[in-house]
Amino acid sequence: MATLAGKKIIVVGGSSGIGFGVAAAALESGAEVVIVGRSADKLKAAGKRLAGAGRVTGVAADMANEADVARLFDTAGAFDHLAATAGTPPPNFPIVETDMAFVRQFVDSKLVGAVMLAKHAMRTLKAGGSMTFTSGINKDRPPIPGGSVVSAIAGSFSYFARALALELAPTRVNIVSPGWVDTEMWDEIVGQAKVGYFDQMGARIPVGRVATPADVAPAYLYLMQNEFMTGETIHIDGGQRLV
Ligand SMILES: NC(=O)c1ccc[n+]([C@@H]2O[C@H](COP(=O)([O-])OP(=O)(O)OC[C@H]3O[C@@H](n4cnc5c(N)ncnc54)[C@H](OP(=O)(O)O)[C@@H]3O)[C@@H](O)[C@H]2O)c1
Repeated sequence: MATLAGKKIIVVGGSSGIGFGVAAAALESGAEVVIVGRSADKLKAAGKRLAGAGRVTGVAADMANEADVARLFDTAGAFDHLAATAGTPPPNFPIVETDMAFVRQFVDSKLVGAVMLAKHAMRTLKAGGSMTFTSGINKDRPPIPGGSVVSAIAGSFSYFARALALELAPTRVNIVSPGWVDTEMWDEIVGQAKVGYFDQMGARIPVGRVATPADVAPAYLYLMQNEFMTGETIHIDGGQRLV
């Protein structure tokens, strides 16, 4: 497998959660990392936590805004791999109560944002590079009620990657689909109740606990390093799809 030492990796969503774990693991592998998020303060705080591990810089950009996405790649310059983990809490309305403005905002950020990342990344992504986007367990185990939109969007990523892997070849395009991961997003969605949810899920799934970002980060690094992986979705969920 190819080494990541000396490679430049852009992690969109790298200031928190899964993306922070990917950034930390990439730095540990000797890569230079650019972390991206909307909040400059969060980027600064994450940059401080990561600084001892290697060369890391932050670029504040909203992946739902095309001018921001274009500026991100202009600023970062030539790079080797893109990992996109950015996302916000999904809509969870029963279908008959759907707030269409919220749904449009979610789709714009998560899916249209990924399209814009792929479009602009191609200007500066080096030969032999890769893009990895993030799907999730909600496509396989949709929360009921209220899971239809997040399930549809998460599910669409596998097909996005398959088509792009053909169109952009030899650039490789893949997806990581995590199960539940203990991140700041859960604090935002359920607060203190997170502990109870995680205990219950941990007791159900084969590996006996919910993942940390460090558990899922190696899947992203593997897809960057393995030059024979493209158009693929890696599930890393501790067996959550089985229960
Ligand atoms: N945690 C889980 O259990 C889990 C499981 C499966 C799939 N996922 C998916 O994985 C993704 C990441 O989840 P997470 O738990 O790591 O979330 P998180 O801890 O809240 O981190 C989200 C990251 O994305 C950034 N971000 C959000 N919207 C953005 C935008 N429009 N443009 C640029 N950056 C943006 C955030 O920074 P700013 O707020 O500063 O922008 C932050 O760095 C989500 O799409 C989620 O649905 C999560």
